[in-house]
Amino acid sequence: MNDLLARRRGLAKTCSHPVLLWAGSRVSRNFAANTYPFRASSHFLYFTGLNLAEAVIYLEAGNLILFWDELPESAALWHGDSPTRAQLADQLQAQASYPHSELFRFTANAATIPLVNLGDRLDQATCLNHPVEFPLSGRDLELAEAIIQLRLIHDSLALTEISQAIELTIRAHQAGMKATPTAKTEAKVRAWMEQVVAVNQFNLAYISIVTTQGQVLHQEFSPHPLRPGDLLLVDLGAETPAGWAADITRTWPVSGKFSGTQRAIYEVVLAAQTQAIAAIKPGVEFWDIHGIALRVMTEGLLALGILQGDLSDLLAGDVATVFFPHGIGHLLGLDVHDMEDLGDLAGYAPGRTRSPKPGWQYLRLHRPLQENMVVTVEPGFYQIPQLLEKARLDPGLGQWINWAVLGQFADVKGMRIEDDVLVTATGFQVLSQALPRDLPDLEAFVSEQ
Ligand code: GLY
Ligand code: MN
Ligand code: MN
Repeated sequence: MNDLLARRRGLAKTCSHPVLLWAGSRVSRNFAANTYPFRASSHFLYFTGLNLAEAVIYLEAGNLILFWDELPESAALWHGDSPTRAQLADQLQAQASYPHSELFRFTANAATIPLVNLGDRLDQATCLNHPVEFPLSGRDLELAEAIIQLRLIHDSLALTEISQAIELTIRAHQAGMKATPTAKTEAKVRAWMEQVVAVNQFNLAYISIVTTQGQVLHQEFSPHPLRPGDLLLVDLGAETPAGWAADITRTWPVSGKFSGTQRAIYEVVLAAQTQAIAAIKPGVEFWDIHGIALRVMTEGLLALGILQGDLSDLLAGDVATVFFPHGIGHLLGLDVHDMEDLGDLAGYAPGRTRSPKPGWQYLRLHRPLQENMVVTVEPGFYQIPQLLEKARLDPGLGQWINWAVLGQFADVKGMRIEDDVLVTATGFQVLSQALPRDLPDLEAFVSEQ
């Protein structure tokens, strides 16, 4: 609780306005009473730690007031006992608590953050009596900047939660590795992994990617059979009940043994990751971390003969982005891409905007690193048909790729290695270190029964 109180006090230091934050409401699927599982807004969770639907908090001078309507008695038939408002207020160490009908008394000059769901945003606008939308301006922008300063730098409660999410995610990945030799389908491996999360009563932080088709970057379905020569790309992360995320990817061979070509590319991706992580420390630009990964990928693909020509030309032309087209990583926290609801306000330092260059355009973080930030480092190699076709038809780009050599690597469709890294006072700590990553460890882990 102390960290939650410190967060509220911290906000009061930098935000000169009173603040109203909405948790959001349940979203219906196909008829009103059949809803998606509820997950409160991350900004609400940050100050409350409580996944409470239909709640609003008012924050001023470090104090919290809760607005929440108790459920009618009849709700007990369907939902059993529900807490009273007073119990919740007590749990939150609130100064006061009221039903929603009292909210109008607290709206003057209040700043807020628009929720993602449009229906919720309409509720916010109705209550505040003005539009609530992006881009933010005035006091809402000031609030967002104040929250960003807090959420960028994780306190001990945040780091404990993230570590718990990572620890369970590691166990889920280990279960997936162990299940692979006998599983016949992607879906079976996925089920083994997701049951680890479910049985521990955590949630998934995002839709799991468990696929032999790793070249489809966000492949959210797992319909394929597992074949002996396949690589399985698994990007799966747990979320704690209070909403904190992990985000880990491993790519392992279905048979437990990488082929020569798979091994060669894996070594390149791993070297890119290792060198990128090694450079992490306070003050270093994340832009440069991306640059290191891209350089190591370029050198590695040149050494394998997939790229050809002068290293300096290849780097100047960002040629390796044909195979590594996304950013090296992003902030991690309550959201798997932390604070991306605010667009690039959190990820990009003031005055910075996205580069139009291939690959770099998808870099989600462009700030100097600071102690107690958590970032992902996730280089990958993908043979994405659309990008390869575009490169082949572009004489400026196609000349740098040795298409005959590339043809020998057909059994590497998509590969990514993703870890979660804490920026420490003097360097870094790989929070997901315990999950096998090196080739022999990974092969041994998948093969051992
Ligand atoms: N799991 C989404 C990502 O790696 O960014
Ligand atoms: Mn990620
Ligand atoms: Mn991921």
